[in-house]
Formats: sequence, structure tokens, C-alpha cells
Amino acid sequence: MAILVTGGAGYIGSHMVLALVDRGETVVVVDNLSTGHPWALPPGIVLRGGDIGDAAFLESVIREFAITEIAHFAAKIVVPESVANPMLYYGNNTAKSRMLIETAIRCGVERFIFSSTAAVYGDVSGDPVDETTPPMPVSPYGRSKLMTEWMLQDAAAAHGLKFIILRYFNVAGADPQGRTGQSFPNATHLIKVAVQTALGQRPHLDIFGTDYATRDGSCIRDYIHVTDLATAHVDALNHLRRGGDSMILNCGYGRGFSVLEVVDVVRKVTGVNFEARLVPRRPGDPATIVAKSEKIRAALDWTPKHDDLEEIVSSAFRWERKLAGRNG
Ligand code: UD1
Repeated sequence: MAILVTGGAGYIGSHMVLALVDRGETVVVVDNLSTGHPWALPPGIVLRGGDIGDAAFLESVIREFAITEIAHFAAKIVVPESVANPMLYYGNNTAKSRMLIETAIRCGVERFIFSSTAAVYGDVSGDPVDETTPPMPVSPYGRSKLMTEWMLQDAAAAHGLKFIILRYFNVAGADPQGRTGQSFPNATHLIKVAVQTALGQRPHLDIFGTDYATRDGSCIRDYIHVTDLATAHVDALNHLRRGGDSMILNCGYGRGFSVLEVVDVVRKVTGVNFEARLVPRRPGDPATIVAKSEKIRAALDWTPKHDDLEEIVSSAFRWERKLAGRNG
């Protein structure tokens, strides 16, 4: 019996694979390698190159490995791209997830862990959000994920599939042992861009907006270490194995840092006083998004071990240096 990880060669998926393998679980990865890398996987992991929209392929993998549990990461995640090309996102994230869920039910899969996003909440600037906040996504990306949440809940009600939906806040950092990290070359995420700037790979960093209603005028986000996030998935799986209820859980620490604070930490950790230019707001950025994280801590007994921005940035920096060595 193995766990199927879709998108397991990608950023968050590869950390999940490590978290499972470190705990002695057997893992099978399905990835179309559009943004993932086979070298992000530990040795000996079965990787089946293919697409989750291909039902026959999926069914053959599920049956071959007697899969009863799926952790579904494969997705497109760039918000502005989803605005420019919404059908790509509804096709890739929603329609292919429908195919995956349908195939999972047909093949008797029992447990399903789904990567959702804080983007389902929409523009909720202000107090930390909990899971009862009505979702009002403002991007096709957020809507493509919310529709998958709905499909899973309906499938659970009709067919008994058990699920945990994890709504990620701002995922950052890399495996503390340096085995994997964020490797997508055109990433737009703040911490990735900042460490690349510190390494001289970009001439400067743009700070998008300093006129928000926040403590220093820049946007505030809840940055969560990718290794703590992976642990949350393992805890979610174990919760369902013990017979726990299906549920939706925020994945954040419950505290926020501003863009300016992040830049200061990246300068401190890297020792590089790189240029950061104050530029106008980026369209679509809410001022503040911070998770209420009481529910996941209580329901899964989830205990983060890396809730430290300096540690998150250091791990991202170490990974970026390693990646530069690999690519250069
Ligand atoms: C967004 C999504 C999140 C999704 C993630 C995936 C929303 C509300 N959030 O996060 O759900 O998982 O994308 O891509 O849609 N910034 C700069 N300069 C930069 C880069 C970023 O100032 O060069 C600022 C942004 O304006 C923002 C903050 O840093 O205020 C974080 O940005 P980013 O890392 O891109 O993530 P989000 O947009 O918050």
C-alpha cells in the first residue's frame, strides 16, 4: 500500500514526499514535470510521468500500487497568470481535479488531502481569518481551488471519501537538510525573489506599495515554513487514519510580517544590503492576510517547529545558493 502524491516533484509536493519517506511511508509520485524536477525526489521513489487529467493513466497507477490515499498538490499557482489565462486554471486546477477525484472514487481511494489556498478568502484585509469566514476569492486561481474544495465535499457526502482541505497562507523556506526547495526559475514569491536579489541574480527588489493601512505601509502576510506545512499534511493523513472527521483547516502560524520587515530579515540573514525600490502597488494585493490557526493546532495536534522568519529565510537562502551551483 502506497500514498499517491500528485505534483510530488514540485516545491511543496517534494517536501511532502520527504516528510512521508522520513516517517517510513511508501510513496508513489505522479507529476507531469511541467514545473517539477525528478531530482527533487529522494532516491528510490517511484515517479510516474503523466497528467492527472488522464483518467486511464491515473487508474493504472492507483491499481498497480493499491493506492488508498492521495495527497493532491499538482496545480498552477501564479495569481496574475490566472487572471490573464483563466481557462488554463479552470482546466488544470478544477477540471483535472474533478477527473482525479472521480477516478479516486471509482478505484476505492479512502482518504484525500487537498492543497488549497488562503486566496479562497479573497480581499480580507484586517483581522486574522478563520475557516468560517465566507470564501470570496478575487482571482481565477482562488476560484479554481474553491471549486475543487466544493467537489471534494460533495464527493465525501455522496461516496464516503474522507478529506482534509488545507488552506495555505504564504509558504516559504526549504528543507532544513537542503534536499529540496523552491526551484521554479520564474518564481514571484517575495522571499524567493529577495534571496535571489541578495545573491546578485536580480538587480534589485521591488516593494509593491508602501501606502497600505498597515503598521509600516507595506503588505502583511503569514509566512509558514514549508517543512511545517508538510508535517501538517502528514498529521492530516494520520487524523483521517484514526477515523477523524473530514475538515477544512488554515495553514499559517497566526502572525504576520510586513514586506519591509521581510526585506530587513533577508538583508540581515544574507549580510547583503541589496537595493529595494519602493514602487506602486501590485494589482490584487490585499493589505493584510493572516491565518487564525487555532483549529489546525487543536484538531491535528499540529506543532510547528520552524516558526521563525530568520530560519525560514536562512533555509531559502541556502537552497538558492545550492540551486545556483546546480544551474551554474
Ligand atoms: C499569492 C496568493 C497565495 C498563493 C500564492 C501563490 C493571494 C491573496 N495569495 O500570495 O494564495 O498561494 O500567491 O503564488 O492571492 N512582494 C513585493 N515584491 C516582490 C514580490 C512580492 O513587494 O518582488 C509583496 C507582494 O506585493 C505581497 C507580498 O510581498 O504583498 C507577498 O507576495 P507573494 O510572495 O507574491 O505572495 P502573495 O501574493 O501574498
